[in-house]
Amino acid sequence: MKSLVIFFSAEGTTASAAKQLAELKHADLFEIRPEKPYTAADLRYTNPLARCNIEFFRKRDVPVIGAVDHFEAYDTVMIGFPIWYGCAPNVVNTCCKAYNWTGKTVYLFATSGGSGIGKTVEKLSPYLKGASIKDARVITSVQELADWQ
Ligand SMILES: Cc1cc2nc3c(=O)[nH]c(=O)nc-3n(C[C@H](O)[C@H](O)[C@H](O)COP(=O)(O)O)c2cc1C
Repeated sequence: MKSLVIFFSAEGTTASAAKQLAELKHADLFEIRPEKPYTAADLRYTNPLARCNIEFFRKRDVPVIGAVDHFEAYDTVMIGFPIWYGCAPNVVNTCCKAYNWTGKTVYLFATSGGSGIGKTVEKLSPYLKGASIKDARVITSVQELADWQ
């Protein structure tokens, strides 16, 4: 069984969890990097004109750099991201759209400022067609994922 951890992190919290998870599960690691990196100003959601708000409210795709090599070789894919506006950031949707998920076992993990997983699965599922989503959790420590197979 070959496993992959895919993650997006704007401010480092999810990155740290994703790296630990990849070690714990002996999985490969792929970082979702937007073509245009987020600056602190881009993330200031209290500003209605901040990039994050424009992308979210206008449902924008966010182009990403590169792609997973031999995605077809992975059986299990763990996808990590920060909760933005109660769900996965648009850049995660854009990334997921690029792959064929048929037959993949998928686990979702997120970090947040306090929100739960909410409607994350429902909203991300259209971009993971054919995958079996086994679990989705907001975590504070990667140890909470030790039971993932
Ligand atoms: C644009 C934006 C939207 C956010 N929306 C939420 C939210 O709806 N609920 C929440 O609990 N935290 C929210 N947060 C906080 C992040 O989920 C939290 O800080 C996360 O751990 C950041 O992960 P990262 O360091 O990997 O980017 C938001 C942060 C940003 C920048």
